[in-house]
Amino acid sequence: MEQDLRQLQADAETNLATLDNLKDLEEIRVRYLGRKGLFTSLLRQLGQVSAEDRPRFGKLANKIKEELEQKFNTRKAELGASDTGAAGQRDDLSLPGRLVPFGRLHPVTQIMDEVCSIFVDLGFAVAEGPDVELDYYNFEALNIPLHHPARDMHDTFYINDSILLRTHTSPMQIRAMEKEKPPLRIIAPGKVYRCDSDITHTPMFQQVEGFLVDRKVSFADLKGVLTVFCQKMFDQDDIRLRFRPSFFPFTEPSAEVDIGCVICRGEGCRVCKQTGWLEILGAGMIDPEVFKMVDYDPEEFSGFAFGLGIERIAMLKYGIDDIRLFYENDLRFLKQF
Ligand code: PHE
Repeated sequence: MEQDLRQLQADAETNLATLDNLKDLEEIRVRYLGRKGLFTSLLRQLGQVSAEDRPRFGKLANKIKEELEQKFNTRKAELGASDTGAAGQRDDLSLPGRLVPFGRLHPVTQIMDEVCSIFVDLGFAVAEGPDVELDYYNFEALNIPLHHPARDMHDTFYINDSILLRTHTSPMQIRAMEKEKPPLRIIAPGKVYRCDSDITHTPMFQQVEGFLVDRKVSFADLKGVLTVFCQKMFDQDDIRLRFRPSFFPFTEPSAEVDIGCVICRGEGCRVCKQTGWLEILGAGMIDPEVFKMVDYDPEEFSGFAFGLGIERIAMLKYGIDDIRLFYENDLRFLKQF
């Protein structure tokens, strides 16, 4: 036994003296001193040694192991020193790499993309228009003449008397209908602006306008399209929709649409203010007065339109209670999406 131990020590030391790099050193260290190394397997034989000799061999084995460990460490330091770079420090290849942070889409953009792709799947085409808009498209052609009280609903940023930042995406109804004849199935996503700021309003927010014009389009078609949209958007096949009578100058009849709260499913919670319902969009049948503005015959054609707020949907989907979080550029917030 003693013989074997000394032999092992001698072999290890010869190896140690001849190797010349850290990689080999580590290999040899594992071979001799590793958990499944030669030294360990030799120690197993200690059991076969007679009880009175065992303590002596045990002690010897420990001593040899300690000496070897010492020698490996010394050799490692020598090799390490000769292997250094210009700065006198060796690269530590075991350090984890530097993380390259990669970007991602803003949560509002993600929801916007999702909304658009649902409508594209339903056969709607995407159209975009200017943020800086004429009063004519934003109000006048939408049946909101200059002194119409409905203008009070919008706190408008005016650039001059006839130019403004659009307060909604509805002007795209007029722009699209001026360009094309029915049938028409269009969504118009984009930024809109209102002079407003609190926990549910930011001066800039995003909407998607949708409209469909054809012969014999009915309110039932509007309900069908919005129901399918909500089912897909909130991943709930049995989602409930509620149409409340409302007023917009460019739709008649008009409705505001609520969905059963996606957080509590109608039980009542903080997000739905205990009502079980969440308002998500405005909609209605396009007013004949609007058709007249674009030379469509209201006797021949009918259509529906709706406008939904993207931040609102994002807030409902993620249970966020302050819209301003989306636009403060706090990475701690944004990183969660
Ligand atoms: N434009 C309206 C708003 O911003 C929403 C709407 C769009 C209502 C289309 C009816 C039809 O409040």
